[in-house]
Amino acid sequence: MMELMFSPPLLSGLVLLYIIYHTIRYTQFHIKYRLPPQVPGVPVFGNLLQIRRGDTWLYLKELAQKHGEMFTLKLGSRYWVVLNSQRTAEELLGKRGAIYISRQNMPMGADIMSGGKKLLFLPNNDLFKLERKIAHDVLGPSQKKVFAPLQDLESRALLYEYLERPQDWYLAHARYSSSVIANVLFGRRTKLYDENVRNILEVAERVFEVIQPGSNVVDAFPFLARVPLPKWMQPWRWTGDRIYEQTLANYAKEFDGLEERERNGKGTPCAISEMIRLNKHKGLDRDSLYFLGGTLMEAGSDTTRVSLNQIAAAAALFPDWVKRTQEQLDEVCGSNAERLPTAADAPQLPLVKAAAKESIRWNPALPEMGHSLIQDDTFEGYHFPAGTVFTWNNWGICTDPNEYKDPERFWPERFLNEDLDKPFKGLLGFGAGRRLCPGWFVGSQSLFLTISRLLYCFEFSAVPGKPIPVGKPLSLSVDGPPFEVNIKIRSPAHEELIRRECSSAALT
Ligand code: HEM
Repeated sequence: MMELMFSPPLLSGLVLLYIIYHTIRYTQFHIKYRLPPQVPGVPVFGNLLQIRRGDTWLYLKELAQKHGEMFTLKLGSRYWVVLNSQRTAEELLGKRGAIYISRQNMPMGADIMSGGKKLLFLPNNDLFKLERKIAHDVLGPSQKKVFAPLQDLESRALLYEYLERPQDWYLAHARYSSSVIANVLFGRRTKLYDENVRNILEVAERVFEVIQPGSNVVDAFPFLARVPLPKWMQPWRWTGDRIYEQTLANYAKEFDGLEERERNGKGTPCAISEMIRLNKHKGLDRDSLYFLGGTLMEAGSDTTRVSLNQIAAAAALFPDWVKRTQEQLDEVCGSNAERLPTAADAPQLPLVKAAAKESIRWNPALPEMGHSLIQDDTFEGYHFPAGTVFTWNNWGICTDPNEYKDPERFWPERFLNEDLDKPFKGLLGFGAGRRLCPGWFVGSQSLFLTISRLLYCFEFSAVPGKPIPVGKPLSLSVDGPPFEVNIKIRSPAHEELIRRECSSAALT
C-alpha cells in the first residue's frame, strides 16, 4: 500500500494536478482582474523573499522610481498595491474610504500577539466600529477642554526638563507624549523613566517589527494558522503567545493603578473612569477594554515623541526656519520672554502650525499601515479583487520632488496654504480615509504647543563631529538619543520665565 502511495507515477500525477489547478486559478484570476505593474518575484512566495529588511523604506522608493504611481507586490498568498502618490492615496484610501477600510488578515500580528483586540489591527467588524467610536469620543475636537489644560501642564514640565537636564531631551519628549495621553485616559502623569510606559512601548516595537510586510510566515500564508496542529508544532505561537500575555499584563497595570488611586481617594477625572461610569464600553469584555485603553496610550505616546525628535533634528540642521519662527513668536509673546505662547495664539503663529505639519512630513520615521479592500473595485483601467491590501509609500512620497519641492529641506512655508488648519491635509502622515488616525487632533495640538514653547525658549545646534543622520528615518528606540544635539536657553530672561512659570508643573 505504502509503495503504491509513493510510487513515482502517482507522485508525478499529483504534482501535475497541482500545477494544472494553479495554472487554471492563475489564468482565471488574471482574466478577471488587472493589477498595477507587478514586481517580478518567484513562484509561491512572490516577492516575500525580496523585501529588504532594515531599509524597506528605501526599497519601496526605488521600486516607485521604476514603476510609477502604483505597483503590486505579491507577499505570500496576498497582493499588496503600493500607492506612490498623494493623488492615488487620496482617490482610493480617502475618497473611497468606505471600502478601503479593513485591515488584512494577520493571524500572527493581530490574532495571536494581540488577541484580535487591538484597534490598530482590527478588520472592519463590530468591535472595530465600537472602538473607533469610543476613540473619537475620547480624542476628538469636542474633548479639547479636557486635554488642553493637560497639554499646557505637560509642556511646562517639558520646558523645565529641557532647562534642568538638556542632555535628556529625548526622554523629555517621550515623557511629554505619554504623560498627556496617560493623563487623559487614566488620570496619571508619567515620569521621565516610567517603567510601565517603557514596557508597553518595548513590546509594541516588537509587534511592529513582526507585522512588517514579509516579516513572518503566518501573516504571509494565513492558511497556516488554520491547520489544526498542536501548539508545539506552531513555532510562531511560542513567541506570539508570550507577547500577547506581556501586552495584556502591561495594559492591565494601568487599569490596576487607576482602581487603586480611586480606592485611595486619589483618583482624578479621566476618560476610562468616565467610560466605565457611563457604561460606554458595553459590548467590550475585560481584556478588550484593557486593549482599547492600552492601545490608545501606546499609539498616542510614540507618534508625538517621534515628531518632536524630528523638530529637534530639523532645528539643528536648518536654523533658517527657526529664526523666522522665533521672529513670529517674539512679535506675539514679546522679545524679552514676556510670556509663554499658548493655544490661543495659534491664529498669530502660522509658521508654528506649518512646522507641526512639516515635522510629520520631513524624514518620516513611522511605518505606513495596510488598508484592505472589502469589495472588488475598478480604478483607471485596473480591477482590484476584494482582499487586496493597499498602502501608501510614505518615505517615497515624502521625499519625491514632484510631491514636495526640495523634499530634503525642512521648510514649513510649504504648508502655508488654505489647508493650514487641517493637520491631515497635504500629507499622509496621519493615514487616510476611514482609518485616519483618530488622535490627529490631540497630536497636532500637542505639536503646536510644544514647538511654539520650545522654539520660544531654546536654541538648537548640531554637535561638531556628530552629524545628525538624514536621508533615512531616525531611530525609534528610546534606549538612547537618536542623535546628538546642543540645546541652549535663548537668554537669561527665558530662563527666568521657565523657572517662574514652569517649575511647579515639573514632577519632582
Ligand atoms: C503626531 C502624532 C500622530 C501621528 C503622526 C499618527 C499617525 C498615525 C497613522 C499613520 C495611523 C494609521 C492610519 C491609517 O491606517 O490610515 C494612525 C492610527 C492610529 N492612531 Fe495615530 N498618530 C498620531 C497621534 C496619535 C494619538 C495622540 C493617538 C491617541 C491617543 C493616536 C491613536 C491612533 C489609533 C488608535 C490608530 C488606529 C486607528 C485605526 O486603525 O482605525 N494617534 N496614527
